Amino acid sequence: MAYPVYDEWKIIQEGLESEKNRFFESIMSQGNGMMGLRGNFEESYSGDRLKGTYYAGVYYNDKTRVGWWKNGYPAYFSKVLNSIDFIGIRVFIGEEELDLGRLRHEGFRRELDMKTGLLTRSFIFRDSNSSRFEVNVCRFLSLAAPELAVIRYRVRPLDCEAEITLLPFVSAEVRNEDANYDEKFLRLEAFENDGALCAVQAKTVNTGFSVCAAFAWELRGVQTGYEQVSQEQDALQGVRVCAHCGKGREAVLTKYIAAGSSRSHESGSLCGAMRGLAAGAHAKGWDALFAEHAEKWRAVWENGDVVITGDIAAQQAIRFNIFQLNCTYTGADSGLNIGPKGFTGEKYGGGTYWDTEACCLYFYLGTQQSGVARQLLMYRYLQLGKARENAAKLGLRGALYPMVTMNGEECHNEWEITFEEIHRNAAIAHAVGYYTQYTGDRSYLEEYGIDVLAEIARFWASRVSYSDDKRAYVILGVTGPNEYENNVNNNWYTNRMAQWCLSYAAGCLRRMARDKKMLYAQVLLRLGLTEAETGRWEEIAGNIYLPYDAIRGIHLQQDGYLDKELMPASRLDPSELPLNRHWSWDRILRSCFIKQADVLQGLWFLNDDFTVEEKRRDYDFYEPMTLHESSLSACIHSILACEVGERGRAYELYLRTARLDLDDVNRDTGDGLHITSMSGTWMSIVYGFGGVRVRDGVLCMNPFLPGCWREYAFSLVFRKGLLRITVGQSGFSVKNTGDGPVTIKYGSGTADIGPNEQKTFCLEVL
Ligand code: BGC
Repeated sequence: MAYPVYDEWKIIQEGLESEKNRFFESIMSQGNGMMGLRGNFEESYSGDRLKGTYYAGVYYNDKTRVGWWKNGYPAYFSKVLNSIDFIGIRVFIGEEELDLGRLRHEGFRRELDMKTGLLTRSFIFRDSNSSRFEVNVCRFLSLAAPELAVIRYRVRPLDCEAEITLLPFVSAEVRNEDANYDEKFLRLEAFENDGALCAVQAKTVNTGFSVCAAFAWELRGVQTGYEQVSQEQDALQGVRVCAHCGKGREAVLTKYIAAGSSRSHESGSLCGAMRGLAAGAHAKGWDALFAEHAEKWRAVWENGDVVITGDIAAQQAIRFNIFQLNCTYTGADSGLNIGPKGFTGEKYGGGTYWDTEACCLYFYLGTQQSGVARQLLMYRYLQLGKARENAAKLGLRGALYPMVTMNGEECHNEWEITFEEIHRNAAIAHAVGYYTQYTGDRSYLEEYGIDVLAEIARFWASRVSYSDDKRAYVILGVTGPNEYENNVNNNWYTNRMAQWCLSYAAGCLRRMARDKKMLYAQVLLRLGLTEAETGRWEEIAGNIYLPYDAIRGIHLQQDGYLDKELMPASRLDPSELPLNRHWSWDRILRSCFIKQADVLQGLWFLNDDFTVEEKRRDYDFYEPMTLHESSLSACIHSILACEVGERGRAYELYLRTARLDLDDVNRDTGDGLHITSMSGTWMSIVYGFGGVRVRDGVLCMNPFLPGCWREYAFSLVFRKGLLRITVGQSGFSVKNTGDGPVTIKYGSGTADIGPNEQKTFCLEVL
């Protein structure tokens, strides 16, 4: 089997091997922000697979499994539900069922066309008489009508005439592979089946969501009859459709599916609504539905495409990342967020991590109108109440956002992460700041974000303690972003970000006191804030301990880091990587090796607070010891490598994130894709190679051409402008197709680029 197959717009699989099936199911995933599917086959398959059909925001509560209970652990974990399976179409030739796990087959090919989000699959199989049948399948999840999916399934006998039976169905008889106690979380609630329309509605056992899938169908070819089918104690509803096909004549079944949940419909009217949608889709037909859907994807690419000339592997990879990010989140609903695996697997429970603020926000800010990124911020605002409860459970004031969540409650229970990885709070505050700085829109901050910022500042003020010895505030017993260290004191990143949160919150309040007196008075009242309290935040911020090694001139990852035996990761035997699968945990904790960007994450977030010299010293010290065993890491190091002039290494690090899933770099793509870090790939290009920064409302650029690329181009939504930036060997151009002018700063000069204007700049030689 030849894989990878490089193509600018397509992900291609040639040949079927059972042991690679989960990998291909993951990379062939589709989504439309409201639902998503792994690349499962429609027909039965007895080989290895991970079934996955996910409806946005629908989760179940799994009983926590833990060996050593600690106070403060959550009793349940909310996890993304593997929901009603709606793609199923069983296929029979006479009595014999098509199953690629058992029947001989040839010419298997699958393609995901990222331009239109269409998945196609074709192969020839032989029945037990050795007669050949050709199968062609295509499907899409509509980006235009996010509760609709359409499948077209064609079967053609090549050697003889045949009786072909197709059995399209929807089924609530599904399980989550990742459930702790192998429980089933869907209970049948209602079903309907009149032969033309079939529907199944089920309720999640302990979270009370109703989910429903309905379908209508049509068959082109010689239909010889159909009958309703009800199986699995009615949890499966379908239709057995029989067709007589002469040699070379096709049976073509089209399945029009509507799938939704009680998040968007009343439970009592859900089934009716889905039946109505499915019937409406049937009346409209494939062509019209596909045209609407493809038009939406066209618009996505128009605003968000990155074009790389001269490196097809890189081109395919960046489009794959952009495609999957758009499949996962569209900003339609402030109750939704982005799980590390999006709609492509169950691992990590599907919950929201700090990944959203550390990575994803940048992509949506740069490629969509600001309303989309704002929804991600609203999500946190809406969960502020739970974050307050979470802090109170730990005996602290203010708000502590969970490390992992579905509905605002913590869904993680490793003490060193749940209780100690409190730096996540800082990323959430930073996102409010960055959104405001990038968009210039202060309304989110002043109406909602200020509550989030103030409660986070309160948290830090109650979490610090004063060290008489150091004569400074310290933060003890934490886990920084680098999860290969636990329970350390004074993680520099955590302390520095806490300091930033405290002074940023105080500064925002001061500005509101000056400019928005009414709003300011309301905030004080609403949160019970006093100027004495915000004064204390500033006092702590001014006197927080930040570990530093004056000899090397570096920020120290944590107290005592230099006691470790320091050595570069290049001294490790590659067979020992990834470290967490080969070394004992205690050996990892004692070692100097760093899982992911930690000090450098701080240098990225607070980028303008450090000189290039400071960045270079930290980069030179930490990069050799960093293993990048979290997908969030390489992109940050890549951006910093660009800043300090390490362009070769920046490109290597970029490649590591860009093709992480397509090349199965961590051997875990089969579990699902690394969705949240896909934004990091985009960031490496825009903020790394493009050198984009926003300073005082001005877009600053410092681009260069990496690797073997001949040219690259990306779009950026910035305020009222929509910029297309093209970087070549000796210069770059910026074209503005937006509604308003944008000021660009490059080197020591600035340029205003009006609507429909284009300007070119010569690249400065480093
Ligand atoms: C990383 C975390 C990240 C999580 C989900 C972990 O491996 O260490 O920083 O939030 O994965 O992506």
